[in-house]
Order: sequence, then C-alpha cells, then structure tokens
Amino acid sequence: MTSTIAVAGKGGTGKTTVSGLIIKYLLEKKMTPILAVDADANSNLNEVLGVEVENSIGGVREDITKNVGSIPPGMPKDAYLELKVQEILVEANGFDLLVMGRPEGPGCYCYVNNILRKYMDILAKNYRYVIMDNEAGMEHLSRRTTYEVDHLLLVSDTSPRAIRAAAKIKDLARELELKVKKTHLIINRVPDIELNPVLKHEIERLNLELLGIVPLDERILEIDLEKGPIFELPDDSGAFRAISNLMGELKL
Ligand SMILES: Nc1ncnc2c1ncn2[C@@H]1O[C@H](COP(=O)(O)OP(=O)(O)O)[C@@H](O)[C@H]1O
Ligand SMILES: [Mg+2]
Repeated sequence: MTSTIAVAGKGGTGKTTVSGLIIKYLLEKKMTPILAVDADANSNLNEVLGVEVENSIGGVREDITKNVGSIPPGMPKDAYLELKVQEILVEANGFDLLVMGRPEGPGCYCYVNNILRKYMDILAKNYRYVIMDNEAGMEHLSRRTTYEVDHLLLVSDTSPRAIRAAAKIKDLARELELKVKKTHLIINRVPDIELNPVLKHEIERLNLELLGIVPLDERILEIDLEKGPIFELPDDSGAFRAISNLMGELKL
C-alpha cells in the first residue's frame, strides 16, 4: 500500500523545505521506496534534494502535442508516453523524483493528459511513500480524479495570514472533493520555543488540527544560501528533530 503525503500552504512558508525534511526522515528510517513529486510549477524541490532535472511531465505534454510526428511509426501513443515518463523520472539514492512542470493550458489535450495521469497513478503504486510538494492552490490535484491523499500537511509560518491561507486550502480541498483522509497543520520557522497564545487561539478558531511546530533553524538558511541539499542538515538540528516527531505522530 502506498501512503501519500501532500504538502501545501501559502508561498514561502516552507513547503519545499518541509517536503525535503520528510524525505530525509523517511530515508534515514529506511522507509523506502519513495517517490518525490514536485507539483509546483515554480518549485525547486530538486535543488533541495540535490538532484539535476532535465524534463517534466509538462514538457512531455508540450512536446507531444506540438510535435505528434516525434512518435516513432508503429508505436502506440500511450506506450510512447509511458516511455517518456520513465525517461524523465530521476532516479536518486533511495528515492525517485518526478517533476510536473507547467500545468495543462486552457486548450486541454485530454487524450494526452488522461494517459499521463493514468500512468502516474500506476507509477505511484510502485512506491511505499509518495511525497508531493504542491503549489499554493490545489486545483491541479482536482484534475486527478482518482487520486487519494492520506495526509494533507498544511504548512504555515507564524503570520495569521498564512494560517488563514492554510484554512482556505483545507476548505478548497473539500470543495474540490479531493480524497483527503487527514489534514494537519504545521507551523514552520517558529522563532520561540512555544507558539504565541493568540496564534493558538486563531488555529482553534479556524478548526485546524495542529500537528506540531518546526523551529526557525539558521542552518537551513545557510544550506539554502549554498544551494546545498537539505540532507546536509544535521540530525540533531531543531528543525529535523521537530520533523521527526511530527512524522512519528502520523504513524505511517
Ligand atoms: N524552519 C526553517 N528555518 C529557517 N529557514 C527556513 C525554515 N523553513 C524554510 N526556511 C527558509 O524559508 C524560505 C522559504 O522556504 P521554502 O521551503 O522554499 O518555501 P515554499 O516552498 O513554501 O515556497 C527558504 O529560504 C528556506 O530556506
Ligand atoms: Mg516551494
């Protein structure tokens, strides 16, 4: 059985960092194989994971719709698309990475999209864990009707606006009828040991379930500056210990 964890939240709150730290945790616990999915068109999950990426699902979609002649004669279109997805899947140490790239434009090439989606669902089943780093909105998930998310992790910083954005995403997931089993809130980059009581109150008021807090960790910023992979963060750093505790709570 595959467990899918989707990470969402307002831009800049730490979704990509949290996704990377979750992958670090799973790798260290030997909870593999892992599929990392970069579902944010402007994201850099590959940088955080320290891997090079050449192409994306969006790129394959664009190539094939612009240049149908690229399909070798006699080869069925779906077999060709499967092959292309295999090609863009980056195989790293203990995990694979799939980059979604640009979303489908308004001129929907449904046939191509349907094959790609079907194939991605089949692909995901080969892994024990799927970690998806999402863009702020969740609309891209709604196009994947069969998709089930076991844990939706809403990441916020300590600003009330980001917490309200998390609540909106939770509502949106419900409106879009996404199949989400459980939704949790993570407050990231917390400068103090505890959350401000006013924020705690706001979280309760918005009916969000707080999974835990991740401290502000200077080492994360240094790694980011050096464009290093998040795996360089020491295991005894506050942020990694916090993520380890949160992951333990999920009882995967
Ligand atoms: N716990 C943390 N402590 C310190 N810096 C952090 C922490 N989490 C994220 N950051 C930094 O905050 C910035 C935004 O994080 P990022 O993960 O890219 O956010 P998002 O993916 O939500 O846009 C980055 O510079 C990142 O290094
Ligand atoms: Mg990001």
